[in-house]
Amino acid sequence: MTNVCYCYLCRKKMILDLCPSPALYPFYQKEDDTVVVVDVFRASATICAMLQNGAAAVIPVASIEEAKQYKSQGFMVGAERKTRKCDFADFGNSPFDYTREIVAGREVVFTTTNGTMALEMGRDSKQLFIGTFSNIDVLAEKCMESSERIVVLCAGWNNRVNVEDTLFGGAFAEQLSEKTDIIFGSDAIRIALALWHQAKSDPLAYLQQSEHYQRLINNGATGDAAYCLEQNTVSVVPCYHKEEKKLRAK
Ligand code: MLT
Repeated sequence: MTNVCYCYLCRKKMILDLCPSPALYPFYQKEDDTVVVVDVFRASATICAMLQNGAAAVIPVASIEEAKQYKSQGFMVGAERKTRKCDFADFGNSPFDYTREIVAGREVVFTTTNGTMALEMGRDSKQLFIGTFSNIDVLAEKCMESSERIVVLCAGWNNRVNVEDTLFGGAFAEQLSEKTDIIFGSDAIRIALALWHQAKSDPLAYLQQSEHYQRLINNGATGDAAYCLEQNTVSVVPCYHKEEKKLRAK
């Protein structure tokens, strides 16, 4: 029988880092990383909603052309650009579009302005999960099972940094550090945690002036924004399967 020591000194520490924009990913990327792709408004919450409601898989694609090809083969397609549903698609990027009645047992092809682009950037990592406020607890549990270094990869907006994805990184850092010993990989995660401390009493109020919240309001998606900030509304962790290029619930 082997003796395993669980004392504080022997426990292996996990490294947590945050990449604030897909354009910066090459500077944060390391071999054997677990990547958590976050697009708080709204792709991450929408993917979680699909799988929570029984979708067999989500097939993320980066381009409209690919999505159109799948559509012509009879697939159900969700497609969004600049916050609006694309004309050819069945649905846009609202988590409320993907009810159990619509998605249960189906594979859904999905493309969004930034979320699926970020996923494309991180897809060669050791493991890739989709994270957001709606699955923050179960995501932390999943990451603790096997990750040594986790990078929260923020989708941002057209490679620009946004507040909401960085805020999630801070919330996740707080959550993980309550459950296990973590080391901060860089100042980016310290910034995220400081931001979360400022915002956590009322994240929705904190985000009122943010660029994408304003975009959502201008497109009549105020309810989506509130939903996307609610914690632990689902119990799934979307996990990317490289061989089949699909996200499935873990
Ligand atoms: C994105 O991928 O950029 C977003 O999810 C946009 C949106 O809110 O529809």
